[in-house]
Amino acid sequence: MLKISNKKGIYQIMDYFVHKTAIVDESVVIGDNTKIWHFSHIQSGATIGASCTLGQNVNISNNVKIGNGVKIQNNVSVYEGVTIEDFVFCGPSCVFTNDLTPRARYSKNHKYIPTVIRHDATLGANCTIVCGHEIGHHATIAAGAVVTSNVKPHSLMAGVPAKQIGWVCECGQVLDANKKCPDCGREYEEEDNELRDKRNGN
Ligand SMILES: CC(C)(COP(=O)(O)OP(=O)(O)OC[C@H]1O[C@@H](n2cnc3c(N)ncnc32)[C@H](O)[C@@H]1OP(=O)(O)O)[C@@H](O)C(=O)NCCC(=O)NCCS
Ligand SMILES: [Zn+2]
Repeated sequence: MLKISNKKGIYQIMDYFVHKTAIVDESVVIGDNTKIWHFSHIQSGATIGASCTLGQNVNISNNVKIGNGVKIQNNVSVYEGVTIEDFVFCGPSCVFTNDLTPRARYSKNHKYIPTVIRHDATLGANCTIVCGHEIGHHATIAAGAVVTSNVKPHSLMAGVPAKQIGWVCECGQVLDANKKCPDCGREYEEEDNELRDKRNGN
């Protein structure tokens, strides 16, 4: 629990943790049980949900919205225009973008191209998400992949540019050839190039 005092000396009790080397700007919302570690910077207008973990050297840009239960590993910058839903895992040094054709000399006047990472998706270490795309729920992006298209829910994407090389279970494990999870036993079926859980059709 973190206690801070305002100018009148009144303590405000916050149920989240911000390491003393991190910087949190004005007008930021941070949910309960969230932890923000060394040298991270949360910029003005950002919203971070409950029970998130932001590692070392994480930058959350102005007005970015991050859901609940999100884990962001070291050295990740989440730029304006990116939305991250609940329980997304951002691997170390993964890269977001918000401008397809940047130039130092020509400002885009904050016309950022949006990117959405749907709930429970995983972004592998050092992958790059080219802006303007949606990463479907429960999808996994392999380490080092460069995503240049929309990604279907539960799909496993790898390579440069990233192509679908398989399907991923709700639990994160890669499905076998019968679309069964070797870890948790969940079984799926493919219909219209989409994956459905056999138990509940989702
Ligand atoms: C993509 C991934 C999930 C595949 O796991 P897997 O199913 O156990 O994969 P395998 O090691 O059996 O490899 C299967 C094939 O995919 C290839 N492959 C594996 N990872 C790859 C990657 N990141 N990029 C490109 N190809 C990859 C393998 O070379 C292999 O190719 P082949 O069939 O031609 O030999 C895993 O390699 C990965 O990248 N996980 C993300 C790890 C990460 O970033 N964690 C962050 C937190 S520490
Ligand atoms: Zn599973």
